[in-house]
Amino acid sequence: MDSYYCSMLFLLPPILYVSYHLTRILADKKKPTTHGLKAHPLLGHLPAFVNNSHRFLDWTMELVVGSPEMRMGFWIPGMRTGIITGNPADVEHILRTNFANYPKGEHAIGMLEDFLGHGLFNSDGEQWLWQRKNASYEFSKRSLRKFVVDVVQDEVADRFLPLLRRAAGDGGGGGDVVVLDLQDVLQRFGFDTICMVAFGHDPRCLADGGVMEDAKSEFMHSFGEAQDLVIGRFLDPIEVSWKIKKWLNVGTERRIRKAIADVHAFAMDIVRARRQSASVQDRDDVLSRFVASDKHSDEVLRDIVLSFLIAGRESTASGLSWFFWLLSSRPDVAARIADEVRAPERWLGEDGAFQPASPFRFTVFHAGPRMCLGKEMAYVQMKSIVANVLEEFVVDVVKEEIAGDGVPEHVLSITLRMKGGLPVKIRRKAEAY
Ligand code: HEM
Repeated sequence: MDSYYCSMLFLLPPILYVSYHLTRILADKKKPTTHGLKAHPLLGHLPAFVNNSHRFLDWTMELVVGSPEMRMGFWIPGMRTGIITGNPADVEHILRTNFANYPKGEHAIGMLEDFLGHGLFNSDGEQWLWQRKNASYEFSKRSLRKFVVDVVQDEVADRFLPLLRRAAGDGGGGGDVVVLDLQDVLQRFGFDTICMVAFGHDPRCLADGGVMEDAKSEFMHSFGEAQDLVIGRFLDPIEVSWKIKKWLNVGTERRIRKAIADVHAFAMDIVRARRQSASVQDRDDVLSRFVASDKHSDEVLRDIVLSFLIAGRESTASGLSWFFWLLSSRPDVAARIADEVRAPERWLGEDGAFQPASPFRFTVFHAGPRMCLGKEMAYVQMKSIVANVLEEFVVDVVKEEIAGDGVPEHVLSITLRMKGGLPVKIRRKAEAY
């Protein structure tokens, strides 16, 4: 017993000391660290993240907008600390002035590595720089720009517009007007065009009214599934959980493995076929341009084109879906755009002249050295679609078919697409007025 009391005597002072300081630290941590965002003494912001995971974007935006500096910090013990900012000065500091200090980093790259390898979208430093230089050089060439315009024009004229005409009840005999998921149609359009620009391969997802051959639709499906599931890893507040699931090959990680294997096999077939093709010098797509330089392994080529696919696949479809949704409540704007296809009013000064806004304030295409390489292509796609649709059709959103209160929700994935799609009815313009 003596030795027990003796040990207690020695242990009590450090225990009291540690308890006293722990109590003070915990009391301090209870204070809100950012506007309205409280940290739990032991779990940090984990409970707040979990409670708001169903409305992550709205929640973080409310906090950022509510803070005088337009930024919020967070910490989760033993795992992440981070800052979310909407402050243009911070954005410029990160994306341009101190670009070298803010790489994507091993953590983010590691999450996409099994899907995208070290392609342009998923690399840093020298590995990123040589790909960026080559790709920027190719994208600045007139031949690639012309190729993009030709691909988009053909897809609009031969597939997209005929599909809308059928949906409007054309085709003889005054057929019925059907409800169409416009987002799905735009995604097929985007997938066809980006595959042709990146691979020189036509998956025909919009051909024949969107009835696809099985193998081709499977590629689009697997690509979408792999992308969404892989992005889900970023949203898991417990960082190691996806690694454990991957190691055990269970749950979402099991599905990711299958989807990635399908995507890689499909992409590799195209890379190998292109490598053996004699006509590579005469082709305009991005893959042929890299193959012609004869410097890269099959895996490197595959990763480069997959990076283009992830960057360009859904982005314009999501942007256009939200555009048509907004326009559906502003027929006056739709009529004015149809009169003269022009930049949205938001970007026009009082004299009607175009006023470019800071890319650090409107970061939709990113800014600084990693700015989107497909911006011009995206504009070609979006302007062609908007101009052609508004010239010939009226798009009525079918609000009754949108879940909840008739306002679409977004999916928290790379491009914030609409949850459940955009149900619309298409009318010929003459019938509309
Ligand atoms: C409305 C449509 C689009 C939007 C809003 C958009 C936006 C963006 C953004 C925000 C990034 C930076 C992503 C990051 O570093 O994590 C990016 C990068 C990129 N985008 Fe786009 N994009 C669009 C369309 C396209 C298209 C159609 C292409 C394909 C030709 C494309 C090709 C790329 C590439 C290759 C990168 C990687 C650049 C790099 O890391 O150096 N984008 N884009």
